[in-house]
Amino acid sequence: MQNQNILTPKFPELLHGGDYNPEQWLDMPEILEKDLEMMKKANVNCVTLGVFSWVSLEPADGVYTFAWLDSVMDNLYKNGIHVVLATPTGGKPTWMAEKYPEILRVAADRTRNGQGGRHNHCYTSPVYRRKTKEINTRLAERYANHPAVILWHISNEIQGECHCPLCQEAFRDWLKEKYKTLDALNHAWWTRFWGHAFTEWSQIQPPSANGFDVVHGLNVDWKRFCTAQALDFCKAEIAAVKAVNPEIPCTINMMEFWGGTNYFKFKDAIDVVSWDCYPKWESTDNVDNAIFAAYYHDMMRSMKKKPFLLMENTPSTANWCPVSKQKHPGLHKLASMQAVAHGSNSVQYFQWRQSRGGAEKFHSAVVPHRGDSENRIFRDVTEVGAALKKIQSVYNSNVEAKVCLIYDIENSHAISDTKGPRNEGMGYTEVFKKHYKAFWEQGISCDIVDMDGSLEGYDLVVAPMLYMYRGGIANKLEAFVAGGGTLVTTYFSGVVDETDLCFLGDTPGQGISDVVGIYVEEIDALYDEEENSAVLSENRLGLRGSYKIHRLCEVIHTKTAKALAAYGSDSYKGCPCLTENKYQDGRAFYIAGDAEYAFLKDFYTGLCKESGVARNLDTDLPYGVTVQKRIGAEGEFYFIQNFLEREAELALPFALKDLEQGSLLTGKITLKPYDVKICIKP
Ligand code: GLA
Ligand code: ZN
Repeated sequence: MQNQNILTPKFPELLHGGDYNPEQWLDMPEILEKDLEMMKKANVNCVTLGVFSWVSLEPADGVYTFAWLDSVMDNLYKNGIHVVLATPTGGKPTWMAEKYPEILRVAADRTRNGQGGRHNHCYTSPVYRRKTKEINTRLAERYANHPAVILWHISNEIQGECHCPLCQEAFRDWLKEKYKTLDALNHAWWTRFWGHAFTEWSQIQPPSANGFDVVHGLNVDWKRFCTAQALDFCKAEIAAVKAVNPEIPCTINMMEFWGGTNYFKFKDAIDVVSWDCYPKWESTDNVDNAIFAAYYHDMMRSMKKKPFLLMENTPSTANWCPVSKQKHPGLHKLASMQAVAHGSNSVQYFQWRQSRGGAEKFHSAVVPHRGDSENRIFRDVTEVGAALKKIQSVYNSNVEAKVCLIYDIENSHAISDTKGPRNEGMGYTEVFKKHYKAFWEQGISCDIVDMDGSLEGYDLVVAPMLYMYRGGIANKLEAFVAGGGTLVTTYFSGVVDETDLCFLGDTPGQGISDVVGIYVEEIDALYDEEENSAVLSENRLGLRGSYKIHRLCEVIHTKTAKALAAYGSDSYKGCPCLTENKYQDGRAFYIAGDAEYAFLKDFYTGLCKESGVARNLDTDLPYGVTVQKRIGAEGEFYFIQNFLEREAELALPFALKDLEQGSLLTGKITLKPYDVKICIKP
């Protein structure tokens, strides 16, 4: 039996490589040969095959052409390169769409898409499910026991929704299962408002701009259904390949949450979490991008509390940005090692060889159109591969975080659909990121879970803007504080339940008002150019003076909490805006307005010091520098990263051994622009 804690048991090494699409080059065998030679030169040990290869594997219904893949795979393996094998369902053949038009996705306005693009299939269609099972089974029968194959990559960037009649019917079935009776559904969605009550199940339709669009319970349930349907499809894909060889683990390549899909829901269906990381790297100050990538890396690791895989990133530019900035010298290695710092066991790229045509012909690839290795990108990639070889001892080590932040995509959907108190710029993700930044800048490791996650084992839980309480979160927060934990939560929390019905009684609802020791009377929204302030009173956290507050200000009343700061202006001047409440063995802080970052930085610095939450290195870090830490069988690994294009200095509190150079670092060290030092505690 495999060790389930090892991500890639057949090849337990840090992976380096990426998407390889040899089917684009089959008529140029010299290119395929050169690929092998160049992959070895670039220190590539693993490629992903088969993403979007369906038409190359099944050019007509039931006609299979595996010979090209046989030979590519054998040659890779002979050259010491392993394979992540994708199922091809992200892009279906045109013959299939022509023969079975029901598989084409239907948009929210109920028009059926034409063929083309990708991720353009219906998750419900029995035909698409049958064709998927057939191709996956064939792929597995042929390759699941191939020595090169170490991991299944199910489909590609699973996402999206389909409004076809089949999906609508499946949605109604899903609702029947959830609510049992129409009365229960009508109550949960508050449909008596504007006379929206349903009298037959058949009347229920997915949201659309020219139909139901402001039944909030319908909106959140539809998004949940779309995730559930995509997950059900994904599980069927996994079942097909596992039926042949259950020993090969499965992953999906997740994305940042720009679509509606809730990737947290996939975590138990897959063996390994992986994701595609594409920050919009800039030319000078990359702190903001670094923080974006960092919190997603943390979120990916936290899903299973295990290392994850970086499945894609670009060797330099992503051509879909409004302006495609190249990665400046040093940044590629830094961005790659940043993923490893947060728990990745790989650095993979999109893609190996730049396509001659198509939508991504100007997306950077390891091998450019010129076909050579005498260029900066190829050298950068080679350097990353060489570095990964030197830090192999990091493989499968993990991050041990004492701080947990909660970010919840269903909450995000609900907040973007509130209709007030601001209809633009509620800023949930932005605010979450601001809280996270205060830890990143101190070099404190964080886990990030959603409301379904567990809060056990943490000292500090940070829960900004948890508008929608779901997943038993109120019970978990209460138990966490009662058991001695420190909770920080904010304005616009515990306002609605999981179908978007406002709680009656005290807000935050479900008893959290008692945990934080306050209740909310009302909330004031500010224009972008307006501000209020938080004026601090005497406190143990070392906070002094006043800080700015923007966007939203709750008027709150203390029940048992102590006020630590009050609003500086407006009609609610003097009302508390920062409170602390002792609750059983723990305590809870409440921040009633959208405080500026300077406040969060000082607040969390004080709070971490006061409550003994340790920094990864007990030293002050200059702006742009962070330290992340992994712990494994081989020791404690420190990743010191400088995201500025200028030198930075810091004083090490103890000696560290540089894994790449072999040298011992002590005292004051200098980081070059975009430097990353990967060290072990000797
Ligand atoms: C995604 C896809 C890839 C490619 C890259 C380009 O992550 O999975 O196929 O399109 O984006 O950045
Ligand atoms: Zn459909």
